[in-house]
Amino acid sequence: MGTAAKSGKPVKLTIDGVKVTVPEGTSVMRAAAEAGLQIPKLCATDSLDAFGSCRLCVVEIEGRRGTPASCTTPVHPGMVVHTHSDKVRRIRKGVMELYISDHPLDCLTCAANGDCELQDMAGAVGLRDVRYQAPEKAPLANHFSARDTSGVANPEWLPKDDSNPYFSYDPSKCIVCSRCVRACEEVQGTFALTIQGRGFDSRVSPGAAGDDFLSSDCVSCGACVQACPTATLQEKSVIEMGTPERSVVTTCAYCGVGCSFKAE
Ligand code: FES
Repeated sequence: MGTAAKSGKPVKLTIDGVKVTVPEGTSVMRAAAEAGLQIPKLCATDSLDAFGSCRLCVVEIEGRRGTPASCTTPVHPGMVVHTHSDKVRRIRKGVMELYISDHPLDCLTCAANGDCELQDMAGAVGLRDVRYQAPEKAPLANHFSARDTSGVANPEWLPKDDSNPYFSYDPSKCIVCSRCVRACEEVQGTFALTIQGRGFDSRVSPGAAGDDFLSSDCVSCGACVQACPTATLQEKSVIEMGTPERSVVTTCAYCGVGCSFKAE
């Protein structure tokens, strides 16, 4: 959710008419959350460094041109921020429309239905109709060796990678928010994932072209699966049995890192 400064000079600002005081270096998004104001987001999380890629969290700041991402913008004394002006609502809706234009519309049969941040954010920004359609894509030769292409919206150009025994990777559902790539680096320190390609052709890749998850440097820690806001990276147990009705967060005592895991 952007930077959370633990100490530093107190900074006073106003967000949506609410006066907030947070430590210097805190992000606008975090300051808004401190004030009980939620700003829509997709690429920001509490546990990863701010990245500013999804542009859903844009805000207006009085005296400043443009609409900066609140997750990467630090607070300044006297700042006056508007998080839900007509302009930012319109921008967010347009951004979300572009995401959905390139996403399969199979929510009712998707394993993440009801537990999907993309679905939640589409509702939060009030998206009802999508005017755009992604261009036809050419097949990707040997992007990686897919072993299971069943159930993929368009397996010709976005084959599913089912090689890992614990989770599957369905690139047709990826919004390229990079949360999985950052979780792999920042949480696990493995650097197994990267983003390849540009624009509509950009996608998460486990190493060089031709690699699948099983033959990559992936250690199956599951950090990427936990970080994914859609059903792109999905535990196979969830695909088989559905989303758990309740979950607990537990801390692994195996090593000194202290990773937390959600389990049914
Ligand atoms: Fe700020 Fe994605 S949440 S740009």
